[in-house]
Amino acid sequence: MAPVLLRMHASIVATCLLIGACAEAPTQSDGLQEPRQSSSQAMQSLDTVSSVSDGVFSREQSRRGEARYLETCEKCHEKDLAGGGDLDEFVPPIVGEEFLSEWAQWSVGDLYEFMTLEMPPKRKERAEVTADMYADILAYILEQNGFPSGPAELPPDMDPLVTIEMSPSK
Ligand code: HEC
Repeated sequence: MAPVLLRMHASIVATCLLIGACAEAPTQSDGLQEPRQSSSQAMQSLDTVSSVSDGVFSREQSRRGEARYLETCEKCHEKDLAGGGDLDEFVPPIVGEEFLSEWAQWSVGDLYEFMTLEMPPKRKERAEVTADMYADILAYILEQNGFPSGPAELPPDMDPLVTIEMSPSK
């Protein structure tokens, strides 16, 4: 997976340059922040940074995503999202601890970007998946990983998506 992570890192740097949001990039983990932060500063960062445990997709969206997933991704990642080795190539799971720990330091936007650039692997098949469909599929993946739904939908838009961390807030 190393090349994938390198590509994603490059995309985060590019995002920082474009929107000047480096302070919110996932590489700045909690451990790097000043330990004695005033509570008003803490409140401010809560306004702009959320996580997958904050109800960032709606139930309706994940139902749409499930239908898309079955059409587009299931043949490789399987119905239970656990992947496997039936095909020529090993297909990694997109559910469970291993998957989540791999993505823990990244944002939902990074996962979204990876999917839009790489999945499904065939370019011709990717061309049939719209940005809205990717957002819906992402909602389904988050739901299957045990994260809660909420009132709003995940937008098919990198700017808000990079502010949502893949690692659940404590
Ligand atoms: C033809 C088989 C195939 C299809 C169809 C496919 N994938 Fe994949 N997927 C793979 C393989 C192989 C990998 C591992 C290689 C890689 O990461 O590029 C992978 C990797 C991934 C990863 C990264 C997993 C990790 O451990 O970080 C995600 C997320 C993912 N796929 C999501 C999807 C989604 C969403 C769809 C449908 C839109 C999809 N895939 C369709 C074969 C497939």
